[in-house]
Amino acid sequence: MRGRFITLEGIDGAGKSTHLKTVQGWLEAHGLEVVMTREPGGTPIGEAIRKLLLDRTSDMNPETETLLMFAARREHIARTIEPALERGDWVLCDRFTDATRAYQGGGRGVPMERIERLADWVQQGLEPDLTFLFDISVPTARERMGNRSPADRFEREEGAFHEKVRRVYRELAARYPNRITVIDAGQRSEEVKKSLENELSRLWKEKIFV
Ligand code: TMP
Repeated sequence: MRGRFITLEGIDGAGKSTHLKTVQGWLEAHGLEVVMTREPGGTPIGEAIRKLLLDRTSDMNPETETLLMFAARREHIARTIEPALERGDWVLCDRFTDATRAYQGGGRGVPMERIERLADWVQQGLEPDLTFLFDISVPTARERMGNRSPADRFEREEGAFHEKVRRVYRELAARYPNRITVIDAGQRSEEVKKSLENELSRLWKEKIFV
């Protein structure tokens, strides 16, 4: 049986990396083979593109940025995601196209219809089966990030940029309520973990993602 494709999203500082481990642990405890990966990245070419994209010294046009995100994504889908799903593994991916909608569409102002056209072209029908959106206010996220350094090209953007990113993420969650589950990431870490595990159990029982 084909595996399932789960993505995690949220603004910088939402605590995704910690929560990723919770989801991984939960799935593995349910006997599933889990492939952990991330975007931009997940392949040698994708990781090289990631370096370019995050490098503080790259001065990049928003369309170039969008195209590089999708170039890395095509490689990732073809070499990592699709083969894993075909083997029957579950793929847990730190960010996917919703991040392009939120950061390049919302943050940078790249027209959404261009992003959707590229998404159709690159994804060729592949969509996440389930997405967790870790929602947190921008000031709280910033406070949690503290002086995490060195800040990359996105993290160092001002608060107004991240407010736009967050707004698009929330709009996406409202538009795709069946795919996107919103988790309040502003709670204490143990509370977030509990909410996440409750949601996973609910989705599992309702056979939403199996
Ligand atoms: P990370 O810090 O969560 O690994 O993500 C790297 C940065 O890349 C993060 O600030 C969000 C950004 N990003 C985009 O702008 N567009 C995208 O499509 C993806 C996947 C990430």
